[in-house]
Amino acid sequence: MIEMTPILEKNGVKPLYMQLANYIKQEILSGSIRCNEKLPSKRALANYLGLSVNTVMSAYDQLSAEGFVVSKPRQGLYVAALEDDIAAGQVYLEPYKVKSIQNQKPIQIDFNSGKVDLEYFPYAIWRKLTIQSLYEDQGELFYNGDRQGELQMREQIAKYLYASRGVRCSADQIIIGAGTQMLIGLLCLMIGKGHTFALENPGFHRTRAVLQDLGTRTIPIALDEEGIDLKQLKNSKASIAYVTPSHQFPFGMIMPISRRMELLKWAEDNNGYIIEDDYDGEYRYKGRPIPSLQGLDTKGNVIYLGTFSKSLIPSIRISYMVLPQKLMEKYREHFTIYKQTASRLHQQTLYLFMKEGYWQSHLNKMRTLYRRKHAMLMSAIKKHLGDKVNVIGANSGLHIVLNVKKKMAEEELIRLAMNVGVKVYPLSIYYHESDESLDSRVLLGFGGLSESEIDTGIRLLKEAWGL
Ligand SMILES: Cc1ncc(COP(=O)(O)O)c(C=O)c1O
Repeated sequence: MIEMTPILEKNGVKPLYMQLANYIKQEILSGSIRCNEKLPSKRALANYLGLSVNTVMSAYDQLSAEGFVVSKPRQGLYVAALEDDIAAGQVYLEPYKVKSIQNQKPIQIDFNSGKVDLEYFPYAIWRKLTIQSLYEDQGELFYNGDRQGELQMREQIAKYLYASRGVRCSADQIIIGAGTQMLIGLLCLMIGKGHTFALENPGFHRTRAVLQDLGTRTIPIALDEEGIDLKQLKNSKASIAYVTPSHQFPFGMIMPISRRMELLKWAEDNNGYIIEDDYDGEYRYKGRPIPSLQGLDTKGNVIYLGTFSKSLIPSIRISYMVLPQKLMEKYREHFTIYKQTASRLHQQTLYLFMKEGYWQSHLNKMRTLYRRKHAMLMSAIKKHLGDKVNVIGANSGLHIVLNVKKKMAEEELIRLAMNVGVKVYPLSIYYHESDESLDSRVLLGFGGLSESEIDTGIRLLKEAWGL
């Protein structure tokens, strides 16, 4: 049957049959329903649209009277061939379509830093727990849940954060959200748009985008080998600093304890806040763990952000923030009006996954796996690219920055890689001003690739870049 999806107002000013006739007319004029096409029978269309047969019949009579359709005996109604001048002057909006990029070599190996390993994802367990969540709650999960996120899951997160990241909090201080950007947006409203936010430069572009789109003032602060440059931060007018101390995004340095203490002191002196984004702190390949800023903070100046996007799967859209006392009070006073954005069913499933110990064993398995992939990446780089490149930020996380010693622009590196079916990623987007980007550097994520794909990918890059 011809696809028809009219929006009809049951209690509209125009009778239903007229609304339907007008809709079909527009479809004919725009070419969505073509000339000589057969219209559905009255009964079929009435059933499909949940209308009475009489309504459809009246609409068809109207179309017939206006000459848009003709009846063929014992066959049904057909769209009439229209005179050119009927359609003349009718200018319809083109439906919006995203232009596809053609003539591109298919991507064989994608060094996307947002991907995680799916081969070892415990599908069967996740399926079982999803079904169990639905049974256990007898439909309750289909209603809106706690605005902060499901309490039992927050309790599991609080326990996990203390044990593995040294974060001290109760479940009541945790707010769940469907992604870090959602949480940053809410946080920005809570802190107040009047404040100036200092952002690492280069830094996480999605945080910068939300803050700027919400109208806050952002100041780029350069990095040194330990992370955000404190001298510059102190000289800025900022009172809020957003940082990624466990694994600076994108350069990967781990902020040492001394810098963490200095940063905490800065927040205290400025009566400000530090937003600590610990997006992939679970994966560390060298050195001893350094406590989170939140765990070191004694003044309540740190907001801790975390996510399950890297440690579990990105599409689950469960991220969280841990608020200090002062902000928690603000949240309770003014912000509980905002409903929870993460799916209740996924939260319940994640709660069961954590409670029954699957989360811990999944993390352990992933740590071993990513350590192996990371080692493979390092050895493939050594084997194929040797001293023609150096690696930046290789001590933790699921991505590295590759610095090619040959003078080549970022776009050229990306384009040449694409020619051999390998996708590598730009760094320029992480700078406040795009012309600040340094040439000859690209970002490589390895979480979603197998060890053999990693090796092949690096070998192909050598070929593509002529190293
Ligand atoms: C710096 C940084 N923060 C946070 C995230 C996580 O974002 P989300 O929680 O929206 O998936 C990412 C990417 O995964 C990231 O690179």
